Amino acid sequence: MVIAVDGPAAAGKGTLARRLAAALGLPYLDTGLLYRATGRRVLDAGADPRDPEAAAAAARNLTPADLARSDLRGPEADMAASAVAAIPAVRAALLDWQREFGRRHGAVLDGRDIGTVVFPEAPVKLFVTASAEERARRRFLELQGRGTAADPAQVLAELQARDAQDRQRAVAPLVPAADAAVLDTTELDAEAAFAAAMALLRERLGELPAAQ
Ligand code: CDP
Ligand code: CDP
Repeated sequence: MVIAVDGPAAAGKGTLARRLAAALGLPYLDTGLLYRATGRRVLDAGADPRDPEAAAAAARNLTPADLARSDLRGPEADMAASAVAAIPAVRAALLDWQREFGRRHGAVLDGRDIGTVVFPEAPVKLFVTASAEERARRRFLELQGRGTAADPAQVLAELQARDAQDRQRAVAPLVPAADAAVLDTTELDAEAAFAAAMALLRERLGELPAAQ
């Protein structure tokens, strides 16, 4: 079984997807890491993340070590990820790997295009969202928690710029799948979002598999 969790930046996709995976005994894949690692490799090579050839070469040569880097979060990595993610050859290079991951044992995957492109046949699709202000507040708290100095207004501006870029790109734009359940978590904490998602899953699937 594949569960698709999509949505804009800092909506709580990863937190929710990880909890669903644990509850259902499924592997979890944060597909944003693939784009973040690709962006980082391009920056390392001294190239522009908008350069299609440099970005596609980086995506084709990703290694597990790239995904384990400690510098995949933060404003520079965010924008580099979003820039490489708009390049069709990058998305094509990463597609099979994501599909194989999901098909092997089933999985919960989070990203932007899981329900629309990677697994359009997924039986459950959640589109997790929240107001931009609330999402920026969450990201700001995360940065603070990591000891990174940040300006709240700048966090909001960068998040909105990245969402706009992700929504407007020609290939695999950020958009809810026609059959996705939209979960607005503006007023929900992570626990309440998880409870709401489990209720949606039961509604769509009936009896749920339990973790071993
Ligand atoms: O994966 P995505 O960027 O969408 O968000 P995340 O990394 O899961 O994290 C969002 C942050 O918001 C985390 O610090 C969560 O604890 C918090 N949060 C949440 O995930 N869900 C809520 N409903 C409320 C807060
Ligand atoms: O955690 P957050 O929502 O801030 O970002 P992420 O999920 O790690 O994704 C980083 C960037 O990668 C996004 O802004 C998208 O441009 C891109 N991405 C994508 O295009 N497709 C995906 N399935 C996942 C991420």
